Amino acid sequence: MTREDPPVSLRGHYALGHPVIGPRPLARTRSFTRRGGRMPHTHQRAWDQLSAQVVLEVPRAAGDASTVVDPSFRLDPEQVFGRCAPLVVEVGSGAGDALVAGALASPGRDFLALEVWRPGTGHALAKMAAATGGQALPNVRVVEVDAALALRTMLEPGTVEEVWTFFPDPWPKARHHKRRLVGPDFTDAVADLLRPGGRWRLATDWDDYARVMRDVVGAEPRLELESTDRFPLRPVTRFERRGTEAGRRITDLTYVRVD
Ligand SMILES: C[S@@+](CC[C@H](N)C(=O)[O-])C[C@H]1O[C@@H](n2cnc3c(N)ncnc32)[C@H](O)[C@@H]1O
Repeated sequence: MTREDPPVSLRGHYALGHPVIGPRPLARTRSFTRRGGRMPHTHQRAWDQLSAQVVLEVPRAAGDASTVVDPSFRLDPEQVFGRCAPLVVEVGSGAGDALVAGALASPGRDFLALEVWRPGTGHALAKMAAATGGQALPNVRVVEVDAALALRTMLEPGTVEEVWTFFPDPWPKARHHKRRLVGPDFTDAVADLLRPGGRWRLATDWDDYARVMRDVVGAEPRLELESTDRFPLRPVTRFERRGTEAGRRITDLTYVRVD
């Protein structure tokens, strides 16, 4: 037995942290906590019917249950969607409101959603099924991966038309701010991915997070603030509704890659 070839019984849970196999890597700070949970019956049915067509299997760095995509894996959108079309990447698609609305409104564009919360994706598939009479939308795929890592490696730099980040988890307590998705590293990864002229659309209902977005993204020389208007294709989700009901202001930001 070699370190590269652990016995089957030691794979999985211990695969990254066992005396025989090797050290567990330092825990990374994640922008999410929940991945699973029960789905309502209609969402589970949509998952059972459509996930094989819509949710992509990708190689994982640390076993099947991991959200870490194998860093050597490169996704080929042309092969996945069967055509060459402008690509929109939605990070944290949640229950799929923007994803499904966007894909229906723009059949000429392809939509790749990165989401770790499976019940949310089940809900998205139920919305898709309701809109199509039970069919998969051909221009939508979901990958269950940590986008903070996947954006760095999974797609070819300079190829993405738009990145959407709507209502990322706000992590309002100061001690949790380090968990916020939108920071310098994520901004650098988005700037790398966008094609020149491509857009990053963000929305949040937390003023201090909006300020951070403006500071951090504003410091990235490849991205220029284009608009603070509401993106017309962005539907009202329960996160926006919750924010508005609590008296919070909604901020929309659209940046364009300028070089
Ligand atoms: C507050 S919800 C917003 C969902 C949706 N964008 C909306 O506006 O309704 C944030 C979502 O981002 C997902 N998320 C957080 N961090 C993520 C990450 N690193 N990679 C992929 N998804 C992530 C969460 O699972 C959650 O579904």
